[in-house]
Amino acid sequence: MHVRTASRADLADLDTPLLVVPVVAGADGPELPPLPDPVGGVADRESDDLSGAVGRTVVARVSAGPGTARVAFVGVGPGGDALGAEDLRRFAARGVRLAEERRLTSVAVLLPDDPGCGVAAAARAAAEGLVLASWRFRELKTGAGEDEAPTVVESGVVISPAASVDAARDAVQVGSVVAAAENRARNLQSRPGNVATPEHLAAEARSIAEEVGLEIDVLGPERMREEGMGALLAVTAGSDQEPRLIVLRHHGGADGEAPLALVGKGLTFDAGGISIKPAKGMEEMKFDMSGGAAVLAAMWAVGKLGVKRNVLGVVPSSENLLGASAVKPGDVVTTRNGKTVEVINTDAEGRLILCDALDYVVGMEPEAIVDCATLTGAAVICLGHQASAVLGTDDGVVAELREAGDRTGERCWPLPLYAEYRKQLSSETADFKNVGGRPAGTITAAAFLREFVGDVPWAHLDIAGTAYGEIDDVPYRRKGGHGVPTRLLVEWVRSRAG
Ligand code: BES
Ligand code: MN
Ligand code: ZN
Repeated sequence: MHVRTASRADLADLDTPLLVVPVVAGADGPELPPLPDPVGGVADRESDDLSGAVGRTVVARVSAGPGTARVAFVGVGPGGDALGAEDLRRFAARGVRLAEERRLTSVAVLLPDDPGCGVAAAARAAAEGLVLASWRFRELKTGAGEDEAPTVVESGVVISPAASVDAARDAVQVGSVVAAAENRARNLQSRPGNVATPEHLAAEARSIAEEVGLEIDVLGPERMREEGMGALLAVTAGSDQEPRLIVLRHHGGADGEAPLALVGKGLTFDAGGISIKPAKGMEEMKFDMSGGAAVLAAMWAVGKLGVKRNVLGVVPSSENLLGASAVKPGDVVTTRNGKTVEVINTDAEGRLILCDALDYVVGMEPEAIVDCATLTGAAVICLGHQASAVLGTDDGVVAELREAGDRTGERCWPLPLYAEYRKQLSSETADFKNVGGRPAGTITAAAFLREFVGDVPWAHLDIAGTAYGEIDDVPYRRKGGHGVPTRLLVEWVRSRAG
């Protein structure tokens, strides 16, 4: 979707099939609020709930006035300071859904006069809501058996209070880019394992590098062997698809400035390996590259926005299958930094591909590392689908991620990384095991990763519960890939760029 910005002062020139107007709960009782001048009067209500409660809607035809055919009044809950960016993201997204239902391909959303989050944040959020809500994954549909293709809302307008239209325009630009990045991650996530192979992720990274001007390096199995990446190579041993380690570099800061590093798990299909997963729901494990997809997409946005920092994006990518050469429970592998790991459960493969990637990144002397991975089912048990788990060695980075999460609506919530958890990884045979038993599964996975980040400030996001899902109660998401935490990563990098 393309989003442009308009001023309230220019409403007379607006030609839109649907104008979406926010309604604050409790403000005007059961009466429709007046339409902004010079939009005409309301006729023919199509639906009728004007409580202002979140998502409640009145759609009506407009009887007179220039260019606006219909108005949708959409409840945004209590207004004023309580009206935040996430409310406006959802408000704008509801406008897209209303347009889809009426087979309209464009929609305009009116920002409130004085949103609690400020006009720029509101304009950005509205643009994000529009772009995110318009996304669908149709690449693999031929249309066979469909009466008609679903409506794609192709253009959006964010209407800003007249006094702040310049700030709104810049913010709409940023919001459009980060939301387009997230949609890009969703496309990658949605592609099945037979399409989105490790080489497919590498090819995607190459086109991203080309498009926004990033440096790229892709390591294959030969260079992994030279690097001594025994853990990453062990995971890939059961598969016919070659692994890839994708390294993208954005040069937005001074020469020699230590980069910020983003690392994402790019496991393109996780069957569990010899410790095979149950059949039910296994198809969802095509989403096990969600962290990698978010990192590639975030790097696209970082390049596109010209962020003034050096930024690294690193994605280890492999399948986890059960071929005749597959790593077996009890096997001991040697990681790039020389530590030995007893592979108790081949399904705990994410930490094995990440540990060699993290160690490789540490060699590039970053200022800080944030990794994201669909790493443990325990993260879903712990936080459900409402927040990613965040853990790390640096309270500052963890705090920055939480704040960025609150601003973007891609929330994360902290778990402790006490030294004692490390003991659950003790092995009789090797330096440590790749699993720590049932208790605190998300934490012991992070404790494993911690062994590979040295002294670099580091935080880890476990996105197993948030990266994709069956829930579509958030109006800017659909069932399937959610693109989380693309916007969170971009926000964190931008927050560090000052
Ligand atoms: N990719 C899975 C984690 C996962 C589970 C993501 C459910 C999304 C939804 C990961 O590789 C895995 O299998 N983890 C195991 C670790 C265990 C063997 C210690 C798990 O969580 O069961
Ligand atoms: Mn697994
Ligand atoms: Zn996995």
